[in-house]
Amino acid sequence: MKIAVLGTGYVGLSTGVCLSEIGHHVMCIDIDEQKINKLRQGISPIYEPGLESLLSKNNAAGTLQFTTSHQEGIKNAEIIIIAVGTPQGDDGSADLSFLVQAAKDISPLLKHDAIVVIKSTVPVGTNDLVKSIISSHTNTPFKMVSNPEFLRQGSAIKDTMKADRIIIGAEDSAAALKIKEMYRPLNVPILMTNVRSAEMIKYASNAFLATKISFINEVANLCEAVGANIIDVANGMGKDKRIGEAFLQAGIGYGGSCFPKDVKALLHTAGLHGVNFSLLKETIAINDAQQKLLFTKARIRLNQLKDKKIAMLGLSFKPETDDMREAPSIKIARLLSQEKAKVVAYDPVAKENARRILGDTIEYARSVGEAVENADAVFIVTEWSEFKQLDLSEVTKQMKQPIIFDGRNCFNEDQIRACSKIEYYPVGKPSIVIGLE
Ligand SMILES: NC(=O)c1ccc[n+]([C@@H]2O[C@H](COP(=O)([O-])OP(=O)(O)OC[C@H]3O[C@@H](n4cnc5c(N)ncnc54)[C@H](O)[C@@H]3O)[C@@H](O)[C@H]2O)c1
Repeated sequence: MKIAVLGTGYVGLSTGVCLSEIGHHVMCIDIDEQKINKLRQGISPIYEPGLESLLSKNNAAGTLQFTTSHQEGIKNAEIIIIAVGTPQGDDGSADLSFLVQAAKDISPLLKHDAIVVIKSTVPVGTNDLVKSIISSHTNTPFKMVSNPEFLRQGSAIKDTMKADRIIIGAEDSAAALKIKEMYRPLNVPILMTNVRSAEMIKYASNAFLATKISFINEVANLCEAVGANIIDVANGMGKDKRIGEAFLQAGIGYGGSCFPKDVKALLHTAGLHGVNFSLLKETIAINDAQQKLLFTKARIRLNQLKDKKIAMLGLSFKPETDDMREAPSIKIARLLSQEKAKVVAYDPVAKENARRILGDTIEYARSVGEAVENADAVFIVTEWSEFKQLDLSEVTKQMKQPIIFDGRNCFNEDQIRACSKIEYYPVGKPSIVIGLE
């Protein structure tokens, strides 16, 4: 099939690459000239495991092309997938301005009976809005399909190729069947719904996962207070199939480009319809407090943070991505800087993106060793496997004081007990102090 994808961010690019890999002809369109220039050379503008090899392979084969011209990209497309950003607006609602512009961009260019697919995460009713925008700009007949995306950054290609499910929301059954056919080579379970249910499935899924994270984090805080161990508690809970093991890792809260904005957008939608979804308010409040946890603990332990060297290990909002959107590291770095601590951070891939947000308010190390050298404390902020494999006895020897605040519970008791001197503060587990008065 001939497919156009609007937006070459995490979702659009992964979708375009995977659709070309399963045999379609894909034209990816973006308004960002720099991105398109890189992509034309087979270079991925984002860090995403496995993406670049598929990108260059299909680019070289000519089945995956890139353009900044909507005219060129849309003219032959039977299916147009919109995957532009829907960031958080000032009032917590989803900002649909990119989507509205994209709808206007494609309207005059649509082929007869083209199918416009909205893959961006959009509030209930947005497919209808886009339909009316396009209809007001063209007389060409077209169909709308809602097809929300569930990939996770860091495993976007794997998640697209082996998704748990694909949701197709449509009023027109022929259009729905065509999109089903487009995905057929993936051999993934497909669920057909109406448009509004498809839109809602995406928000309800993300809000549920965010709530699961806030729930386990609150249980972790209680575990610390009562002397229980969150690892054992989560393990015991997760074995219950009704609960499941995923998303029960206590830590310093969720971040990223989706959960924070999607929970707020769903809450906003609920408000518009007079539904008091107070559970989501708590999910957000717990997460806000949890992101400050390491800072709060450090301030209690170190008394005052002025001129203390804090080594932050990890900047991206989760491992295997360079995405810094809503990363807990931003809040932590700002709180530490306000207290005039000297923050030296190391991240395997997110340094440049972090620098765009945090500028020179912190220092950026080239290695873990450089970050922890002479540090008063280490904060483990992102659970990169590089950090999980660290020899803590070596790390602590390099530090001024061997104090570690582990926001992602990266180490087990044996690894900590191998150190001759350490103060180790995890989340939801008893802290361990060795070799110090
Ligand atoms: N990132 C994720 O993990 C993820 C997962 C599932 C769903 N989503 C949703 O998918 C959507 C896209 O997210 P993302 O993270 O890929 O966004 P992104 O910000 O990384 O990329 C969006 C791209 O769209 C381009 N763009 C904007 N207007 C355009 C236009 N008129 N024509 C062509 N290109 C245009 C931008 O230049 C940008 O490159 C959002 O609604 C998001 O909520 C994201």
